[in-house]
Amino acid sequence: MTKADLILKNANQLLTLAGANDKPRIGTGMSDLGVIEVADIAIKDGQVLEVGKDIQMEADQIIDCTGKIIMPGFVDPHTHLIFAGSRENELGMKLKGMSYLQILAAGGGIQRSMGATREASRAQLITEAKKRLDRMLLFGTTTMEAKSGYGLDRDNELKILDVIKVLNEIHPIDLVPTFLGAHAIPPEFKDDPDGFIDLMISMLPELAEKKLAEFCDIFCERNVFTKAHSFKLLTEAKRNGLGLKIHADEIENLGGSDLAAELGAITAEHLAVTTDEQMKKMGDAGVIGVLLPGTPYALMEKHYPRARAMIDNGMALALATDLNPNCWTESMQFIISLACYNLKMTPEEAIVAATINAAHAINRAADIGSLEIGKKADLIVLDIPNYEHLPYHFGVNHVETVVKNGKILVYDSRRL
Ligand code: NIG
Ligand code: FE
Repeated sequence: MTKADLILKNANQLLTLAGANDKPRIGTGMSDLGVIEVADIAIKDGQVLEVGKDIQMEADQIIDCTGKIIMPGFVDPHTHLIFAGSRENELGMKLKGMSYLQILAAGGGIQRSMGATREASRAQLITEAKKRLDRMLLFGTTTMEAKSGYGLDRDNELKILDVIKVLNEIHPIDLVPTFLGAHAIPPEFKDDPDGFIDLMISMLPELAEKKLAEFCDIFCERNVFTKAHSFKLLTEAKRNGLGLKIHADEIENLGGSDLAAELGAITAEHLAVTTDEQMKKMGDAGVIGVLLPGTPYALMEKHYPRARAMIDNGMALALATDLNPNCWTESMQFIISLACYNLKMTPEEAIVAATINAAHAINRAADIGSLEIGKKADLIVLDIPNYEHLPYHFGVNHVETVVKNGKILVYDSRRL
């Protein structure tokens, strides 16, 4: 008889999230967690060997999970992981009523982080980002996207993408790289945004060839990049075989989400001021909405994405931290809580959006995001009696155990 490497037994609830590997969950499907009550899971060679009730199988190691829940590790599909320094000074500016675009115009925001990131060596960027990754692992994230975008010139964008590659090799969290060179207009191109877009376009063949990026993203926003810039860059990215993402409708609606639908982007991200018509268009085109409830929270803004209307218009939703120097959190648990309290998503919808739909948002659903036979054994044990406690009991870390590729990396809330 087969012997498992590891069996986790008697979980109060095991959330499989099974049955949505081909397409992300939409509509009422977003409420389906595939819960098994009092359940076990067996793992072998880094994969799920069996999931169900009362698994009778020998194993090298057995862990009792009575009173706890088991679910897939969180997938965080939108982060700006690589940046140097911090911007805690902007909290005071926000408290005085300054807006994001005003802070940016005053030389703060992305411009300031760009300065620090350009100054930083590879080693410094690795050290700073590794601390964030370690914290993310403790909080249950097992795969994430990482965007470039604080270099804003050829050499520094390549430096950042190279740092992402190194971190993917040395850290257990899997990283999916996105090229966001078009994140802001750097000072040297202040009067020539078209020239800057051309420079970013000139980098695409090398990025695709060296596999330094899987996706290309752009910040389509007032005073940043126009819809026409976004069209030009993303069309070229597509021609070079990259997947498309877009920061759309975060503060002003410039039609970025229309473009996402027209170009067949995998995701449109932020979507705080998107219209119903645009939602329908994205739903029809299969564009996944990546919602970032930490961002309006950090900006002290009232414009939260209208998640209920998006679900009603047939959009699949994913949730992400947006980890960046403006919105600094490593915790998908906090994001799930914000999604329920501020976006009015149900606990079920928020959990789907943080696991299987998030895996779809970075083209990884064949391997992760659910606990099914043959998929990667990336899972977490949370010390809560049922999944509703996850959003309900907020501001703490419920994750007790993290299993990544079948290996226990966090046990008793401590990194092994
Ligand atoms: O997704 N909106 C653009 N980019 C980031 C913020 C980056 C920054 O403020 O440093 C975001 O929120
Ligand atoms: Fe972002």
